[in-house]
Amino acid sequence: MAKSIEDKPGIAETAAAKLGQITENVQGSQAWSSIFRPGSVFRKGYTDSPRNRSYVIMNSVLYHLHPVKVKRHAVKVSYTLCLGGLSFFLFILLTVTGIFLMFFYRPTAAEAWDNIYELQTQVAFGLLVRNMHRWAAHLMVISVFLHMARVFYHGAYKAPREFNWVIGVILLTLTLLLSFTGYLLPWDQLALWAVTVGTNMMGYTPVFGDQVKFVLLGGSVIGTNTLLRWYVLHVLFVPFVTVIFMGIHFWRVRKDGGISGPL
Ligand code: HEM
Repeated sequence: MAKSIEDKPGIAETAAAKLGQITENVQGSQAWSSIFRPGSVFRKGYTDSPRNRSYVIMNSVLYHLHPVKVKRHAVKVSYTLCLGGLSFFLFILLTVTGIFLMFFYRPTAAEAWDNIYELQTQVAFGLLVRNMHRWAAHLMVISVFLHMARVFYHGAYKAPREFNWVIGVILLTLTLLLSFTGYLLPWDQLALWAVTVGTNMMGYTPVFGDQVKFVLLGGSVIGTNTLLRWYVLHVLFVPFVTVIFMGIHFWRVRKDGGISGPL
């Protein structure tokens, strides 16, 4: 058999190309089906037995927020560097400081910059809280990125955690969106030009470019409508979606058997 393939190089090449194509197709479909396979997204199968009945209670996130058993390596700070926890802590800090800022800020072109200036100069702890919000935002982008790198270098994206990796990618996107929508709100030169550049880039989206830019600006030029739009996205819509995805992320960490083991 091998001899006859060697005799006809054309056939050998075609067979190798076909095999390559089949392997690629199989690997591609395996990747999708393992990300979305039942055990990765929802619970695994259930058979009624006394042991499984007790597992239902012990493994329930609602009955036991903390797992019944924690593996030794999972509490070792040097393994996770607590980067996921740190990202979550920064999100909470951003929420608390953000609510404080909302008491003094009106999202209109006429008032926004003055409001921020007054907050810094006349409100007790205004400058401190504004800077806490700004620094926490920068730190969160960094910590989420480092957390992703840690997960990658531990190979923790592999089975059974593929679905949670995908949720993580969505969380990274949401974190960047939170950061970018907040950038416009001080309504200073930096903000105006950053958003002008950003929305111009979006304007180059194929086919729908102009429409995308119009929706993002709330008109054809940057102005009060843009500010209001980005304010609502920043304080309401994106945080709301982020909280939902964080909930799914934490639930999956628990359901995938806690933190992955060391290599
Ligand atoms: C808002 C952003 C995020 C928050 C608050 C968050 C939070 C967490 C927390 C608290 C853990 C438990 C272990 C640890 O602290 O390392 C965790 C684990 C995990 N995260 Fe995230 N995460 C975020 C973004 C991401 C991103 C961007 C990815 C990847 C693209 C990701 C993928 C994972 C995976 C796969 C695990 C399981 C790791 C293991 O078992 O070792 N997360 N996350």
